[in-house]
Amino acid sequence: MDSNNGWPEPIIPVQSLSESGTETIPERYIKPPSDRPGTELTKSSPLSIPVIDLSAMSIEEMARAVSDACSEWGFFQVVNHGVRPELMRHAQQVWRGFFHLPIEEKQRYANSPATYEGYGSRLGVEKGIRLDWGDYYFLHVLPPCLKSHEKWPALPHALRDTTDEYSRELINLCERIMEAMSIGLGLDPTRLQDSFGGRADVGACLRVNYYPKCPQPELTLGLSSHSDPGGMTVLLADDSVKGLQVRRGSDWVTIDPVRDAFIINVGDQIQVLSNAMYKSVEHRVMANATDERLSMAFFYNPKADLPLSPIRELVTLDRPVLYTPMTFNEYRLFIRRKGPRGKSQVESLKTSCH
Ligand code: OGA
Ligand code: NI
Repeated sequence: MDSNNGWPEPIIPVQSLSESGTETIPERYIKPPSDRPGTELTKSSPLSIPVIDLSAMSIEEMARAVSDACSEWGFFQVVNHGVRPELMRHAQQVWRGFFHLPIEEKQRYANSPATYEGYGSRLGVEKGIRLDWGDYYFLHVLPPCLKSHEKWPALPHALRDTTDEYSRELINLCERIMEAMSIGLGLDPTRLQDSFGGRADVGACLRVNYYPKCPQPELTLGLSSHSDPGGMTVLLADDSVKGLQVRRGSDWVTIDPVRDAFIINVGDQIQVLSNAMYKSVEHRVMANATDERLSMAFFYNPKADLPLSPIRELVTLDRPVLYTPMTFNEYRLFIRRKGPRGKSQVESLKTSCH
């Protein structure tokens, strides 16, 4: 392995730039003016994504609410979802503990672009690409053959067990949401899950994002605009620091996380399977001058080697097939090579007749 672990340039953790006390960010992090957060972040948008209370609903009501949110916004929050708030806070606490360890301890897990597993600061391998103001840790939970505790941090001591318990709970939650999404499409409750390759063969990964304080947040982003390549994402956002923005037409709506809620969004693979009835929507993260921010993104993905195309029942004369088949393994190479690029990838899958 070369000295850069397979990356085209040496990796500098953003945390170390932040802690150096510099008052200006390096050139590589400065976005072109059109991509900067701009002034809309100072206006509070009157719009907000739907909040769905899972305790108060029958499965049919839940299906309706989830389906409306997935077609209108591609994003929603869930409350009373059954995951214990103490477990959520404990998961955030152990991961915050990890990012607060000395840099040398974290760099034992430095990742490479071959699998992205481990501690990293970069998405995309092309030389010279612009960088985002954030570090992360990426790991596999499912399928069992990809999960390896050895690749997860050994410290803090409670991290592995807590992450295991947290993941089990989130897989249950994802299975429930998948059922509601499926019913909401007018399909059998298990149809969407079956299109993922069945419960036993799905993939699940965790990306814990750590956004250190940034001296010039108006010039950069914590995470550039992208849509999530996988099936769906369950995000546990920082309870006290906002930063996530969701695209609504030409505006960016800043999300105000409800206490103890999860933020759920549709990924590109569900957009494809639903023949665009459900939308995978662009989102991004603002940097922040005064507070660091931690978020935990749990990705629930289809079986990786299954060619995916729109579910047959959702293709009609009025709604012809929109996408050509591709496996998730092939699909995710794009963002891994090029980094976050809005919605350009799922657009590129569109069949040429439309
Ligand atoms: C992601 C993501 C949002 C956040 O990891 O894909 O969009 O708030 N994260 O960190
Ligand atoms: Ni995302």
